[in-house]
Amino acid sequence: MAFTEGFLWGAATSAFQYEGAATEGGKGWSTADERCCLNASNQADASVAVDGYHHWEEDVALLKELGAKAYRFSISWARVIPTGDGEVNEEGVAFYNRLIDALVNVGIAPVVTLLHFDIPFALVEKYGAFADRRAIDAFERYARLCFERFGDRVKHWITVNEQNVMVRIPEMLGYTADDPDCAAKCAQANYHLYLASARAVACCKQMWPDALIGPDVSYPTIFAMTCSPDDVNTAFDLQQMMAFDPMRSYTSGHISLGELRAWKAAGITPTMLPGDEEILAAGAPNFMAVNWYCSTVVDTAAAEGEGGVLNIGAAFRARNPYLDYTEWGWSYDPRALRIALRECYERFHLPLMVCENGWSQREELGADGTVHDAKRIDYIREHVASMSQAIDEGVDLIGYTYWSFVDILSSSDGMGKRYGLVYVDREDFDEKECARHPKDSFWYYQKLIASNGAGLERVPRGL
Ligand code: BG6
Repeated sequence: MAFTEGFLWGAATSAFQYEGAATEGGKGWSTADERCCLNASNQADASVAVDGYHHWEEDVALLKELGAKAYRFSISWARVIPTGDGEVNEEGVAFYNRLIDALVNVGIAPVVTLLHFDIPFALVEKYGAFADRRAIDAFERYARLCFERFGDRVKHWITVNEQNVMVRIPEMLGYTADDPDCAAKCAQANYHLYLASARAVACCKQMWPDALIGPDVSYPTIFAMTCSPDDVNTAFDLQQMMAFDPMRSYTSGHISLGELRAWKAAGITPTMLPGDEEILAAGAPNFMAVNWYCSTVVDTAAAEGEGGVLNIGAAFRARNPYLDYTEWGWSYDPRALRIALRECYERFHLPLMVCENGWSQREELGADGTVHDAKRIDYIREHVASMSQAIDEGVDLIGYTYWSFVDILSSSDGMGKRYGLVYVDREDFDEKECARHPKDSFWYYQKLIASNGAGLERVPRGL
């Protein structure tokens, strides 16, 4: 197998989906907390999540037992600076210091995300958060604080998780879809987030030249349902829009032509200042994280709305008849990960890390105190085989953090949709004790890590 000795095998969580303690320890409110509250009659909110704030020591012990080389988690900006741009909450800083120390002490590299869907809500109230340029300064100050306090031990940083998703879900930015200025605010916030990410990258490079830092892009691979020119052209356009346009904006020193075209088509002109391209160029990342779960097919014939206009949501809902799907319509297509990694590496030539990749399903704790998640084992095995092939073909892949380490609060479906290697015993409306129970996949992944990826039980079909 192709994995090098230092390959970063690990698993991932994010603050609002894992920590809970939403108002404990001096933490401020965030857009993620607010968004979870909006949905609280349907599913669990972020107030307890899976109680990582009180279970983290046990979780680090489990990571050690897993043999993990890396743990990806996010810092809650509002936990370390409750108002986003004001006083530092030393209690929050101490929490992350303890976690990072515990990881490093057992040889696990922290892979730290600065912003994972949870902007301090005080910034929304103060000036509309990232639609205002002042949020860039606030983010840079927060990033600098993290580099100062944690940078001696953290050598892998992710600036922003899935900006390309955030800017399509107004509530994640602190806006509401019924605001007439919503589209303009989202576009301006999108533009400012590129600058904020670049300023954090430049700051980190100056303070910790040995660190790797970059954004994390959500990257669904998009295929055409048929070879009709409509399907082929639409799949191409959507693939650029969802993944490669944002990647170009982060890496090339200017906003991608695709994003500029999309704003123009929507009649939106974000304010851009002289000197911004210098900021983007100085903040070019030295690695890139991708979150990759599945492929999607585009069926334009099935997705035409009134007047023949393409309904993008419907286009994405088309099903590939050759693949299995989760209950939530996410396909099982491990071989497409190889294609994705090749596409990404050959375009941008940056070291890559797969920072999210995982299988979700409804699960219950069995009478034997565990969960027999055979499908998740298949998913891991076949995606690792696909990564191995991509490495053999020349891709510089440095790590894989399976999503998620323990079950987390799914950002769209609460506790009903579980991804973890470790079962967390709580239901949407019954928090119980949040006890941890490793699933079969935990023990499988432990073997896989111990063999550095060589312990795959069988080579998947077609590789
Ligand atoms: C990614 C996010 O988009 O997908 C995670 O970074 C999220 O936060 C994951 O949990 C899966 O999505 P969902 O909606 O199933 O939780």
